[in-house]
Amino acid sequence: MNDIRRLAFIGGGNMAAALIAGLTKRGLAAARIVVADPSRAQLDSLVDQFGICAATDNASAVADAEVVVLAVKPQQMRAVALALAPQLAQSKPLVVSIAAGIPHAALARWVGAHVPVVRTMPNRPAFNGFGATGLYAPSGVGAAYRALAEAIMAAVSATVWVDHESQMDTVTALSGSGPAYFFLFMEALEAAAHERGLPRDIAHKLTLETAFGAAQMARQSCEPLHTLREQVTSKGGTTAAALEVLDAAGLRAIVAHAVAAADRRSAELAAEYGTN
Ligand SMILES: NC(=O)c1ccc[n+]([C@@H]2O[C@H](COP(=O)([O-])OP(=O)(O)OC[C@H]3O[C@@H](n4cnc5c(N)ncnc54)[C@H](OP(=O)(O)O)[C@@H]3O)[C@@H](O)[C@H]2O)c1
Repeated sequence: MNDIRRLAFIGGGNMAAALIAGLTKRGLAAARIVVADPSRAQLDSLVDQFGICAATDNASAVADAEVVVLAVKPQQMRAVALALAPQLAQSKPLVVSIAAGIPHAALARWVGAHVPVVRTMPNRPAFNGFGATGLYAPSGVGAAYRALAEAIMAAVSATVWVDHESQMDTVTALSGSGPAYFFLFMEALEAAAHERGLPRDIAHKLTLETAFGAAQMARQSCEPLHTLREQVTSKGGTTAAALEVLDAAGLRAIVAHAVAAADRRSAELAAEYGTN
């Protein structure tokens, strides 16, 4: 990644700022990063924070760039990509999209068929450097481009490649929407403990540390999740009593329905974006 000569961000919003923070922390020289954004204040803030170069417009950001990260909102993507297409067709940089729901075929149609494009789906915890990103590119996109796209996203997240683009909808339903599922479960735990008499601040602290500790245990272990669950559940004990209630209420089926709903919605949005 430190070999990148010039990395352009089109859109200098929240996710771009997170990536810039991660990339500069990992040693990519800020002078090699150029950002274009309509907001002068947004650009000034990125220059002050990271020392990156601010571009006057998208076209000048892309000039000579080896990698272009398209970091605008999905609704803005088509116009932005189409406007840059003539330039991209000349220089053929690697284009990395971080936009939720924009199909690879649509991106390739907008930027031009001969430009290598990797579609990625990061998630919100990337802002804190603990994201999870799914990546997809068709087989025509070579290994060096894939490695470059992965290295960029790895600056803020764990990375996984999917073989079929339809799997990006499930990535969206799992890691994209997933933080909200965990927040809901944590909210419910905190409220339940509070209702049973624990002060709210204590319930909050114990909820956060338990979620963090469980995630760390799972990350650091080679055991599958069901083994970890069994290891912390004594027969006839308190955990077993709670898990019986969750199982009887059909928690697994509820989660499966919820993920299916998010997956379907992601596919619907991709179909909307992809038809333009
Ligand atoms: N945030 C997340 O948790 C998350 C998770 C997964 C994927 N993503 C994807 O990441 C992308 C960026 O999201 P974000 O949260 O960073 O959004 P954001 O903060 O709104 O950033 C987008 C930036 O692009 C700028 N922009 C608008 N039109 C532009 C143009 N024509 N040329 C250049 N820049 C332009 C916007 O400026 P104005 O504000 O002035 O319009 C804004 O600063 C989205 O496609 C989103 O789907 C985000």
